[in-house]
Amino acid sequence: MTCRHIEIRPLTPALGAEISGPEGRQLDLSQPLDAAVFADIERAFHEYAVLVFRDQRLDPAALAAFAGRFGPLGRYPFAAPLPGHPHVVPIIKEAHQTTNFGGMWHSDTAYLERPPLGSALYALEVPPLGGDTLFANMVLAYESLSSGMQALLDGLKAINSAAKNGGTVRAAPLAEGTMVGRDLDKMATHEAVHPVVRTHPVTGRKALYVNRAHTVRFEAMSEAESAPILEFLFAHAVREEFTCRVRWAPGTLALWDNRCTQHYPLNDYHGHRRVMHRVTIEGERPV
Ligand code: SIN
Repeated sequence: MTCRHIEIRPLTPALGAEISGPEGRQLDLSQPLDAAVFADIERAFHEYAVLVFRDQRLDPAALAAFAGRFGPLGRYPFAAPLPGHPHVVPIIKEAHQTTNFGGMWHSDTAYLERPPLGSALYALEVPPLGGDTLFANMVLAYESLSSGMQALLDGLKAINSAAKNGGTVRAAPLAEGTMVGRDLDKMATHEAVHPVVRTHPVTGRKALYVNRAHTVRFEAMSEAESAPILEFLFAHAVREEFTCRVRWAPGTLALWDNRCTQHYPLNDYHGHRRVMHRVTIEGERPV
């Protein structure tokens, strides 16, 4: 892909790219971007699905303003946002905590009727080593299935619930006092039926849309009947060759397309603090 206004360095053959200005010059995302620059960024987003910008200085308003170029911002149902910034959620793991937010492979909030189009995560404080985030490409995951399995999955729907695994994907406190609505009754009301294979509204490509954190069963089957195929799909979806890995530094911003990726924040940095700000962009009902 050629772009005049940005430079693209792919992370792996599967997905992900680091983005800078032409000739490696810094892009300053805290300033309003020209329409032509933003158009290149948006094209790269659809091509690479995970974009990484280094050395940014984004206060919560600037983070929300940049993410807001992609669409209206969403609200996360289980955490309190920053005061005065209703769309910016702090994701904090303190040095004494042992569980991390979202600590398993997932796509964001698949239990909502309209899950986010994408999410932006900005690093403020990171451990000296560890705390990377892995991403996997769900288009590749779908396209590498046999034609027989694709035919079985096309047209199937699945139940996605916030309460799966006792809500473990969120059960870790984000930071003491910031979690809201953690009880399982409230999580159980967050449930949605979505196609197992969804079509990306921009690229038209088909992507596998089940994830270990939220997908409970196929719509017309019991959990026991669904389990063998779902287990296969959960493992297949995140095969190493479908992935990339983002190593954070203060000032790193990553933006991912939630319609065709899953991610997994590694929890390998006990004893250190990690502080991120997170914003989601509203999405459409998966079809
Ligand atoms: C998330 O799942 O949105 C958090 C990702 C991370 O902390 O790296």
